[in-house]
This record gives sequence, C-alpha cells and structure tokens, in this order.
Amino acid sequence: MIPTPHIEVDKKGVIADTVIMPGDPLRAKFIAENFLEDPKLFNKVRNMFGYTGTYKGKKISVMGSGMGMPSIGIYSYELFKFYDVKNIVRVGSCGAYTDDVKLYDVILAEAAYSESSFAEAMAGIKEDTLKPSAELNKKLEEAAKSLNIDITKGTIHSSDVFYRVNSDDYKKIYKEHNALAVEMESFALFANAQVTGKSAACLLTVSDSLVTKEATTSEERMKSFTNMMKIALEMAE
Ligand code: HPA
Repeated sequence: MIPTPHIEVDKKGVIADTVIMPGDPLRAKFIAENFLEDPKLFNKVRNMFGYTGTYKGKKISVMGSGMGMPSIGIYSYELFKFYDVKNIVRVGSCGAYTDDVKLYDVILAEAAYSESSFAEAMAGIKEDTLKPSAELNKKLEEAAKSLNIDITKGTIHSSDVFYRVNSDDYKKIYKEHNALAVEMESFALFANAQVTGKSAACLLTVSDSLVTKEATTSEERMKSFTNMMKIALEMAE
C-alpha cells in the first residue's frame, strides 16, 4: 500500500489492532522503551513517533497524537481508515474543573463535550457531546480494578484553547456540562471512531487545576503517568 501523508508505513500488519496514544511523541517513545518488549519504531514523519511491540505477549502499538483536535484528527483517522486499527486509547493530561478531582487522579472519560466544529466539519455530526466505546471503557475499568488503581468516571471538556483571557470561563462549562476536566483531543478521536465504525476511549491524568491553580512540571508529568499507562496496557493484554 501507499503510505499515508503522515505515517510512513507501507503495509498492513505493522501497526497493532490497538494503539495507545499519548499527546507527546516522546511519551510514546518512553512507553515503548519502558513497557513494551521488542519495540520497533514504525513512524518518524514530523517526529510523531510510533512503535509496535508486545506487552505480556500481546502485540500493541503506541503513537503520539500531537496536541489538539486537528492533530489527533489526522493521526487517528489514518490509523482507523488506512491501517485497520480497531481500538485507540488516548492517554493524556487534563486540567481539573472541580476540587472533586486532585492532581495525579486518573479520569476515564464517559463523554466528551466540545464547542469544536470538528465533528460537524468532518461528518455533519451535530451533537456537541460524543461518547467513547462502552466496551473499551468496561475493559479499562476492569483493568484498573485488577491493578488496584482508583479511577474517576465522568464527562470531560475537549477545548480548542489552552490559554484563555478570562481564566474563570471554565466555571460555566463545568456548571452546564458537568465536565470534570479539560483536555484538547478526545472529541475529535470519538468523532473519528464513530465515522469509521471503530472504537476509542480516553484515560486522563490530572496535571493541573483551574480551581487551585496547582500545576506539575513536564518531568513530573512524564513520571507520574505510569498508572494510566498500566491501565491501558493491561486492558490490551
Ligand atoms: N487545558 C487544556 N488542556 C489541558 C490542560 C488545561 O488546563 N491541562 C492539560 N491539558
């Protein structure tokens, strides 16, 4: 086959049925090198590293998505549509909209609310709230339970904006949509899964809080996200 514009793989079977997608390609490299056996790099176009290896004997891939809906929209579509990928589990960071979730808590998205035009522009989908695969979510919940890792389930907000002039704007979205936290990718990922008939889910670790203004450094984030990775890998196992 001809490689896609953004993934330099020219045959099927190189990328596993299940792809774990962090936003940061260096985090994909970290997961591959620290958790997978025999990881092989399959993509370096635009430094968006993707690897396939095995976890407890099962073939699995991990690839960066980049930040924001346009970026994950491109990579997840190419994986679903052209490489026969069946499941994508996003593993990302988020900012808390409520005191109910604390720094480093793991959130399993039950729905993604967004004011983004992605789903409508992509496929005429008019809903502003999209859901992940119930089956994947069930597996992720079971994996978390078997690892004794607490997770919080709820709606998240997929935003196009990281820096807002009015930093209190989030309160309205929290109130109206009951969104626990904000990130920037899941709505587009769920739209692409819906359009291609595939499955997607999203696990997030709280990296900062819009309520308390606490934050973590990029190095702390890299190290603290292992719980979320373990859940995603255990699910694929
Ligand atoms: N806003 C948007 N995306 C994020 C944030 C945030 O505060 N934290 C982690 N991803």
